[in-house]
This record gives sequence, C-alpha cells and structure tokens, in this order.
Amino acid sequence: MGTIRRSATRTFGILTAGGDCPGLNAAIRGVCRAAYDRYNMTIIGIANGYRGLIEENTRILRPVDFSGILTRGGTILGASREKPFKNAAGADNDIAGDKVTAIKETYHRLKLDCLVVIGGNGTNTTGYRLFQEGLNVVGMPKTIDNDIVGTDRTFGFNSAVAIGTDAIDRLHSTAQSHSRVIVIELMGHKTGWLGLYAGVAGGGDIILIPEIPYDIKVIGRHLEERARSGKTFSIVVVAEGALSVEESKMEKKDRKKFRAETVTPSIAYRLAREIAAETGMETRATVLGYMQRGGIPSASDRVLATSLGIVAADLLAKGEYGRMAALIGNDVGSVDLSVPAGKVKTVPEDHYMIDTALAVGTCMGNE
Ligand code: F6P
Repeated sequence: MGTIRRSATRTFGILTAGGDCPGLNAAIRGVCRAAYDRYNMTIIGIANGYRGLIEENTRILRPVDFSGILTRGGTILGASREKPFKNAAGADNDIAGDKVTAIKETYHRLKLDCLVVIGGNGTNTTGYRLFQEGLNVVGMPKTIDNDIVGTDRTFGFNSAVAIGTDAIDRLHSTAQSHSRVIVIELMGHKTGWLGLYAGVAGGGDIILIPEIPYDIKVIGRHLEERARSGKTFSIVVVAEGALSVEESKMEKKDRKKFRAETVTPSIAYRLAREIAAETGMETRATVLGYMQRGGIPSASDRVLATSLGIVAADLLAKGEYGRMAALIGNDVGSVDLSVPAGKVKTVPEDHYMIDTALAVGTCMGNE
C-alpha cells in the first residue's frame, strides 16, 4: 500500500441501482480499492439501490468484500428500481416525500460525507435530485442500453453486444437449415444502441430500433428481394421498444393501449406474425431477454468500469461532488450530474453506425 493521500471525504456510501449488468462489481472494486488504498476512506455498502438507504440496510465494506469480484457478474450489493421521488402512484412527489426524508436521515445518521450511486438514467437523475436536496453525490454511468447522456459509452454495453452477437451467430445456422425468417429481440426499451451494434456485429439482415419506426411493407419487400436473389433465410434483429410507423403516430396513451393488446408476448412475436402475414414466409421468434444482463463482464467493460471507479474515488478525495464519472472520447473524466439528469441518449438518425448498416445492405425498416 502506498502513502495515504489527503481526502475531503472520510466516509461514503455506495449503491448500485436499476437494471444490473456485467461490470458492476468491477466498478465497485475500482471505487473501493482506490478509496481505501489511496485515501483510507471508510466505505458503507448500501443494499438494493436506494431502497437500502430508505431502510438503512447497510454494512461496512472491507477489502475482503471488494477483492476477487472483478470478473463476477451482477452486483454484490444487490439492486432495485426504487424511485425515491415517486409516490406510490408513480407520480412525482411535489415535495421531498417520506422516502427522501428517510434517505437524508440515513445519510446523516451514518455520518456519510458522500454517496456514490452506480446506475442508469434513473439512478443518476435521482442522484442529481438528492444533490439538489443537499446531499453530496457522485454518479457512475452503467447500463447495457448505452443511453446515458454525458458519457461516450457505459459499461455493460460491450458485454451485452457480445452476448447478442453470439446469439445472432447461432441463429444463422438454424435459420439456414430451415430456410426461415428468425426474429431475435434484444433489450433497449427506449433506445436502439444494443440492437444496432449487435445487429451489425452479427450481420442482421434487418435491424429495427425505437428511433426508426418500421413499415411492414418495406420489411416484406426486403425479405422478398432477398429470397429472389437466392437467400433462403433472413435474420431480423428487433429492439424491444421498436414500433411501427402507425404506432409512432398515435398519442402516447393510445399507443400504450395498442401495444398492450398487440405486443404479445413480446415485440418479436408480433413482428414474426406480421412478417408471416405479409410474406407467407415461415417465421420464428426468439427473445434474448435477461441473458444480455448476465454473466461475466467483457475485458472492455472491466477496464471501463475500473477506470471510471478510480475517477469516482478521486472526485470523492477532491470533494468534487455533484458530478458523474464519464468516458469522454478516449479519456476518462467527469461531467456535472445535471448533464445526464432527466435525459436519454437516443441513436441519432445520422449516426455512422446506421450508415454502416445500410452500406452493407441492412434494412432499417423505413426505406
Ligand atoms: O435498463 C436496462 C434494461 O435491461 C432495459 O434494456 C430493459 O428494458 C429493462 O432494463 C428491464 O427492466 P427490469 O430488469 O426491471 O425487468
């Protein structure tokens, strides 16, 4: 252990919230190793995201707790989707409600100097709101969706792209054996980064993402053109939040009702039915689901999660609160927590990866 450096933070709490992903434990290890070894900080592990703060479900983390977890999937702290600023009806509290009060009480009772929150859009937005309520907060961006504004990539994404790509590779052989159209659904409720990147990596013939509403006639023509050119099978990659042109024109509440009635049991199955009806081709559907969130992190995610963890520990030491560690170009740094708060990073229509897909003959459902 080197010489202990000065730190503005003596004791901090750390939590993981939102959907889990490979790399979370690498991030926990990065923050804790640096905070403990470099700054001799006291570390309070908070269980199950913000719920652990509300219930004061916490424990001191010692080196034995954050050693040997680099390659482990999931999170040793547990996670939840607890939304402290939402009331029981899911509406925003107009004042800091009981849950936020409980969080503040736990924060002060444990004599925390800061909270490290590792999560997606919702987690970092809650972190920013707690910062506005007077708590010191440092955020870290995590999600397989890669849809957090302010960081050029999130850990979890690279691992999930690899899982999706492996699945698409496997589907090629069975689709070819049976001369079928196989639809594979990847996660990505609001954004299509995961479906787009895994689709390009796996050579998907059609890639449908929420940002580009699809026209089933266009899809049908593309599949029939492939068949005419001698291609006996096709792979369709669809993000779970993909929607048709018709749906994109609906009012939000009408769209929600329509999807509740037609997206059964999942968009991949509806799309498979639509394709079979449109083309008469034999079609099957597969939903990759939570496989994309499981297992050990890729090397890239381990490196990103660890280096962002060091950034977070240094922010703690410098007393630079209200910031989120971030990948900025090829460097790590930080942005104000207001940058990701309340936002979602969608795939821009002019993104180079869309042109890459089109350039190799992929149909994006709209032309
Ligand atoms: O936010 C990551 C994510 O995996 C999304 O891609 C997916 O839509 C969602 O979480 C699933 O949420 P839950 O784990 O609550 O079912």
